[in-house]
Amino acid sequence: MELTVKAYGKINLSLDVIRKLPSGFHDMRMVMETVELHDNIHITISEGEGVTMESNLPFLPSDSRNIAVKAVHVFFEELSLPKKHVAIKLHKRIPVAAGMAGGSANAAAVLRGLNTLLETGLSKEELMCLGEKLGSDVPYCVIGGTQLAEGRGEVLTALPPLPDCHIVICKPKFSISTPELFSRIDCNKIRHRPDTGGLLHGLRTRSLSQVAMRLFNVFEDVLADRGREIGQIKSTLLHAGASGAAMTGTGPTVFGLFDNEADANLAYAQLKEHYRETFLTKNYSESLV
Ligand code: C5P
Repeated sequence: MELTVKAYGKINLSLDVIRKLPSGFHDMRMVMETVELHDNIHITISEGEGVTMESNLPFLPSDSRNIAVKAVHVFFEELSLPKKHVAIKLHKRIPVAAGMAGGSANAAAVLRGLNTLLETGLSKEELMCLGEKLGSDVPYCVIGGTQLAEGRGEVLTALPPLPDCHIVICKPKFSISTPELFSRIDCNKIRHRPDTGGLLHGLRTRSLSQVAMRLFNVFEDVLADRGREIGQIKSTLLHAGASGAAMTGTGPTVFGLFDNEADANLAYAQLKEHYRETFLTKNYSESLV
C-alpha cells in the first residue's frame, strides 16, 4: 500500500503572545494561513515492523528525532494497531527551521496519509487530537486554511478565507531558535500588539488591503541585531508593491502579500538574487481533511 500526501507550509498573518502558562508554554493568539508551497511525503506500508525514512536533505534526522517518524509511532500506538513496516520518503521544499511549520506539516500529512491508507476512519477532530501530542502547530496543519489559533496553538476557529493573492516568501540565511525567542518575550513589556480584531474584520469583508496593512508579529520586536535583515527584506517587498509584509512564526522567514502578479514577480526576482530560499506562491484555501 502506498500513497503520496502533500504537506503545506503556513504563514502567520498575525502572531501575539498573550501570557506565559504554568506549563512553560505560552498562550497565543495567531491568524494562520496555508500556502501552496508544500513538501511531498510518500508513504509505503508493508509487512514487518519499524519505520524507515529518507529525504532529499541529508542533514535532516531520519530516526525518531524526526517529527514525521514520531507521527507514525503516535498513530500506531494510540490506535493500538498491529505492527507494520512504514517507509517514508520526504521531498522537502518548505524551508527548514523557518517559522513555516514545515516539520508540523510533515507530521500532520503523515497522520492524514496513514488514516487514508489504513482506512482507520478517524475524524478531523481525532486526527487533530493525535497532532496535539506531536507539537503545538500540528493540529492546525491537520486542517489548514485560514484559522484563528489560540491556547498553545491548538484551539482553532475557522475564519473566512484570505482573498486569493500572490505571496513572496524569503528565508534569510540565519536561523532562530524557537525556545530562545520565546524566552526573550516578556508578555508584560510587549509595546506593540497586532490589531487582531481589525484583521478579522478585513477577512470578513474580504479586503486583502485591510488584512495586509495589519500583518504583525510580536517576535519581530525581540530579534535584536537580526531584526535589521528582516527589516530590509520587508522593505524590498513593500517597495516592489506588497500590500503588507511580516515575519512568520518564530522566523526568520519573511513574506509579502501581493494583489498584483507582476509586482510579486519583481519582488521574487530581486530577493532571489540574494537569498536562495526565496519562493513565489499563493494562499491555499482548499480543505486538507
Ligand atoms: O509545541 P512545539 O514542540 O512546537 O514547541 C516548541 C517550543 O516552542 C516549546 O518547547 C516552547 O519553548 C515554545 N512554545 C511556547 N508556547 C507555545 C508553543 C511553543 O512556549 N504556545
